[in-house]
Amino acid sequence: MCGIFGIQFSEEKKDLGKILKKAAEKLTYRGYDSVGFATIGGDNKIDLRKDKGKIDKVYTELKMEEMKGSRGIIQLRWATFGIPSKENAQPHLGCKGNLVSAHNGNIVNTTELIKELTDKGHIFTGENDGEALCHQVEDWTEKGDTLEKAVIKANKKIDGHYACVCTIKDIPYMVAVKQGSSLFLGKGDDFVCVSSDLPSILEYTREYIPLMDGEFVVFDDKKYEIKDLMTGDTIEREPIKYDDDIHIADKGEFPHYMLKEIYEQPSNIKELLNFILKNSEYQENMKNLFSHERVFIVGAGSSYNASVTGSFYLQNLINKTVIVSNAGEFIQRWGKVLNNDDAFLLISQSGETKDVMIVLDFLENKGYENIFSMVNVTGSTLHMRVPERFPILSNLEIGVAATKTFINQVVAFLTMAAVLGKREDILKELSSLSEYIEEFIKKYDSETKTLAKNLLNHSAFYFLGYGISYGGVIEGALKVKELAYIPGEGFYSSEFKHGPLALISEDQPVVFLSSNEDSRITVSHINEIKVRKGKIYTIAPENEKLRKESDIFYPLNSDFYYFIPIFGVIFFQLLAYHMGVLKGENPDTPRNLSKSITVD
Ligand code: AGP
Repeated sequence: MCGIFGIQFSEEKKDLGKILKKAAEKLTYRGYDSVGFATIGGDNKIDLRKDKGKIDKVYTELKMEEMKGSRGIIQLRWATFGIPSKENAQPHLGCKGNLVSAHNGNIVNTTELIKELTDKGHIFTGENDGEALCHQVEDWTEKGDTLEKAVIKANKKIDGHYACVCTIKDIPYMVAVKQGSSLFLGKGDDFVCVSSDLPSILEYTREYIPLMDGEFVVFDDKKYEIKDLMTGDTIEREPIKYDDDIHIADKGEFPHYMLKEIYEQPSNIKELLNFILKNSEYQENMKNLFSHERVFIVGAGSSYNASVTGSFYLQNLINKTVIVSNAGEFIQRWGKVLNNDDAFLLISQSGETKDVMIVLDFLENKGYENIFSMVNVTGSTLHMRVPERFPILSNLEIGVAATKTFINQVVAFLTMAAVLGKREDILKELSSLSEYIEEFIKKYDSETKTLAKNLLNHSAFYFLGYGISYGGVIEGALKVKELAYIPGEGFYSSEFKHGPLALISEDQPVVFLSSNEDSRITVSHINEIKVRKGKIYTIAPENEKLRKESDIFYPLNSDFYYFIPIFGVIFFQLLAYHMGVLKGENPDTPRNLSKSITVD
């Protein structure tokens, strides 16, 4: 999704363009198609340069390196309102050229706002919702309201979720609003800044404050004041010190963040496991959550897929009813049959996904109290709004495709199920998981590359799993779609004969993931494909029958039943990564996608 960043320094910076580029680069992982910088210097002139395209191209073509000043605003746009174009790119200027602003989010009454403002004489250059916001704020500042007052009034007219940052050339401060999209404030020695997310702030300072919905902040180079958007009252909040290793935001020696993040999985697992087993608050939350008769786990995309595996662990090991729902369909499917004894676990790596936030609004409005969160990003909206949390400690995940966050979500579920189910055998195996995975990644990084080469000329893939393997194969299919842009479908293997089998023709690749415990039924599902001349690739613990029935067999280095989806998904992550790279795509920023989906 779009990313915004605003900064005010105590003195003029000759290299402000360069400084802004560094911050902008940290926002690129969110997904974007246009780039814009605005700067204001001592002459109080606004220098605005923007266009569609990737950052290096726009930066060079528009000579953004030359931009200087003490205030700067960046926007990276992911098109929703209006095509990617120079006119729709942000920041926007008001008609009089005094006010500059950029936003992130989705303003749903844009058409109405543009009509109303055009009738009043405002001139629009494009159809972007950020431009509507800019003119709406300008409408009041030009009539004499302070910028502060104008954003409060504009917020009342705006229908949607957004965050924005704006300033006027002749005033010595900036204003930023958070209303549904993420926004962080950072404080350094000679500046204050705001950003859609942490990585761009960490580039400059480790001291930050997450802002909450319904708040705005007025800041200059030294001080900031957080205020309530409705009442204007000041809100006190202490800054947080970011303690993790700063280098996590760099690729290091890896060609892509995604590969680095795959390789980080063993250490992340170890860290999470130690944390859960030693943390009494985590364990208390676990007991509370699963003391309820029915537990709903609600998430989207990979977080949903991780929950499918998680619910399998929990239902089998602690005998609880654990219902998994896509966030997008939760309200319509389940909304009418919920009750006060139910508990809800909202799961999201970013903590910003709109579908999940809509569920949270719904549950809160209905007065349901047993709400818990599993989030990776500290300070994100979900993290702040739901303090009964299960952190997953994956550190920053920059690659748009979820890898290490997925695995730690699954590991968190398995650890919870093992602790609550008093399964010492699983806890013992878990203590070696990180070593198993380290070996596994070393072994399969190159083998999956060879497989990727062989598979690239196919136009579709099917990933089949039975029982415990199912959550793993739907995640595998998602990875291949996201990274190789090849249709991949994950099926429960016994479902395949009920229709999808018609898709099998000679040489069609079908990938099976199986546990040893399910090998008998997997063999029979393999045969249904084999007799129709499909090509079988199987990932499973060493197993004579499965090996014999498969065209290519990839043995796992552990036969532990509960680890099958974890190994399977890591295999699929590597496979999808290599397929994407071999196709010449950048696996860190798949087309059309974004790291935090903050629109409907
Ligand atoms: C995962 O690879 C995807 N990029 C996507 O499905 C993602 O998991 C989904 O958008 C949900 O994101 P969240 O976990 O941040 O809520």
